[in-house]
Amino acid sequence: MVMGAAVELSVADSMTRGGHEQVVFVADAAVGLRAIIAVHSTALGPSLGGIRFWRYPGERDALADVLRLSEAMSLKAAAAGLHQGGGKAVVLWDDQHQFRSEAFLRVLGRAIDELGGRYIAAEDVGATPADMNGLALETRWVTGVDGPGGSGDPSPVTAVGVLAAMRAAAEEVDGEPSLAGRRVVVQGAGHVGTHLVELLVDAGASVGVADIDTERVDALVRAHGVDALAVETVLEEECDLLAPCALGGAFTADTVPRLRCRAIAGAANNQLADASVDDALLARGIVYAPDFVANAGGIINIAEEFVGYDPRQALTRVAEIEDTTTRVFALARQLGVAPGRAAETMARRRIAEEGGGRRWRPGDPAAWTRGEPLRTLRPGVAPAKAV
Ligand code: NAI
Repeated sequence: MVMGAAVELSVADSMTRGGHEQVVFVADAAVGLRAIIAVHSTALGPSLGGIRFWRYPGERDALADVLRLSEAMSLKAAAAGLHQGGGKAVVLWDDQHQFRSEAFLRVLGRAIDELGGRYIAAEDVGATPADMNGLALETRWVTGVDGPGGSGDPSPVTAVGVLAAMRAAAEEVDGEPSLAGRRVVVQGAGHVGTHLVELLVDAGASVGVADIDTERVDALVRAHGVDALAVETVLEEECDLLAPCALGGAFTADTVPRLRCRAIAGAANNQLADASVDDALLARGIVYAPDFVANAGGIINIAEEFVGYDPRQALTRVAEIEDTTTRVFALARQLGVAPGRAAETMARRRIAEEGGGRRWRPGDPAAWTRGEPLRTLRPGVAPAKAV
């Protein structure tokens, strides 16, 4: 699978077009590392984003992906009200089952360390907590590391955020945010989907769920008495709210006409095949809570690591997704555009107005720490040491 069209422009032209601040190529023949780190924006603070280990057809595809993903992280962080920017790293990695040596992770960790906090790493597709632990041998600028101060698995918190977005969407539909008595259909009973189903049952919703892994659905049916739905037709189920929590691209020009939901709010990234689907949903009167607003719980949770991780504080901040989503709907009405477009406008405005063209440098204060210097909860991390 090619994740993003290959870049045809030169690297600098692509960066200029996307507004990227910095792109760093990392290569080390001895350990077999080829990676690209993209810092899209640090106008609001140090950039944060996951490391993706993926089999790319070529370097241009990897570059296109890291540019697109890092920009998306800037928008997600800005829309969530975080004082941080957007970054991402991709590692050209052909075999998902191949072991990553300590030496390999140390080289990547040193490259991240050299950026002095302008890029803070997290897990993304293909990455594991063990990778984060390996990077942490060389850099403090990594989240998701095992041990005290770590924020742990973000999925339960992401589910709380999706539930908050659902309440805003329900209110947008008929003026009532409560999910009690509403029919909610969840596509994907993975890490986030399973937690979401549990929260929905607690909230008094009638829940249906589908997953290609039937064991996951069976477990939820047994534990909570929810309905098992067919994977092939789950998106066409009649319901109040539809929650895509599987892979991206669920909504296309083909699937939108077949939808029988009143609103959409889910965890999956890139739910719309393209921006025209946003307009098509609006035209059909289906309320769409933009994916990068609804699923920001994970990143909000991780950002708390750098101010002293407190799960209650993280949950309080994630609950604000309800208010953010409501503001997106209001802006969409005001501008006469679909919610996805409004959310992007909201994020870009904040980066431009609050960020004011700033670039965060190592040692600069970071607003996200509420006036305190950006710190790590792993102060014992040793400085870079030769492998
Ligand atoms: P996961 O991999 O644990 O769960 C995905 C589930 O979807 C799996 O159970 C899989 O069997 C199922 N699935 C795949 N294709 C399907 C299909 N066609 N129909 C029905 N089910 C299908 O992933 P996780 O962590 O739960 O994330 C779900 C989505 O949310 C992903 O798109 C992820 O990128 C996104 N996301 C997750 C966050 C997190 O905190 N875990 C944060 C932000 C976004």
